[in-house]
Amino acid sequence: MLPANPEQFKNAVREAWDESASGWNHQTPAIHNWLAAPTAALLGAARIGLGMRVLDVAAGAGDQTLEIAHRVGEGGRVLATDISPAFLQFARENAHQAGLAQVHTRVSDAEDRVLDENGFDAAVCRLGLMLCPNPLRALQQMHRVLRPGGHAAALVFSEPQRNPCLGMLMTTALRHAGLGPRDPFAPGGLLSLGKPRLLEDHFIQAGFAGVTTERIYAPFQLPSARDYLHFVRTSASPILQILGHLNSEAREAAWADMEEQLEVFQLADGNWEGPNELLRIHGMRPVG
Ligand SMILES: C[S@@+](CC[C@H](N)C(=O)[O-])C[C@H]1O[C@@H](n2cnc3c(N)ncnc32)[C@H](O)[C@@H]1O
Repeated sequence: MLPANPEQFKNAVREAWDESASGWNHQTPAIHNWLAAPTAALLGAARIGLGMRVLDVAAGAGDQTLEIAHRVGEGGRVLATDISPAFLQFARENAHQAGLAQVHTRVSDAEDRVLDENGFDAAVCRLGLMLCPNPLRALQQMHRVLRPGGHAAALVFSEPQRNPCLGMLMTTALRHAGLGPRDPFAPGGLLSLGKPRLLEDHFIQAGFAGVTTERIYAPFQLPSARDYLHFVRTSASPILQILGHLNSEAREAAWADMEEQLEVFQLADGNWEGPNELLRIHGMRPVG
């Protein structure tokens, strides 16, 4: 079921991500390490190569955008889009600092028919599609702006039981906020596209052919549960949104509760490893 008021939902999402943009940008080295292998799989599935024009949807602070820019080279073009102007500001600055003039940005909701540019060789989305209340619409837009024979690929979280940290953070945040449990597959939620077959069905319905999916185990490895909690506290907008209405004492109690539960993932060698599984999906816009 879609949110009762999608516009209100989107405004809240935009504001919340704007607020966590700086934290997410600051966490880029940790995110980069966490997602190195899945990102290589994503860009490989989208067949990104020299001289191509690529659309990067829900690009955030641009970690994967920069990798795409390196792959397409100076003769290519990357258009990074995101609903959050604050995030794209970081993406622009990061691309500028890296000397990647082939990166361009545009604030836009993935679901809206706003891009007048088309004929892209590839369109990708790393950990953004599941946040769209209507991901099918977002895929239809990606399909629309691709050239025939162009490739689309996305990474999303798989089933809740394979991403136990996210489920635990969400459940604990909701309990402390005095809110009832939520359906993990409700549209727009972090785990919403982990519902079996849903993403494949959306790709096919959007018009993509040759749809393939791959499961990628992507544990988040950090020195301690406290480090992971720091990542969540500074950048995980969906959790921050839930705790946003609590006073600081109640919020601290929620964070302490989460940290204690996250200790269960402490390894015997002294490191911490949060299990995560992602789905990498790919499809092609048919020729003709
Ligand atoms: C988890 S972050 C991922 C950012 C980046 N792709 C990465 O992997 O580092 C999710 C991003 O999706 C963006 N987002 C959420 N809903 C969106 C929508 N409807 N349209 C476009 N971007 C959206 C947020 O602003 C945020 O930048």
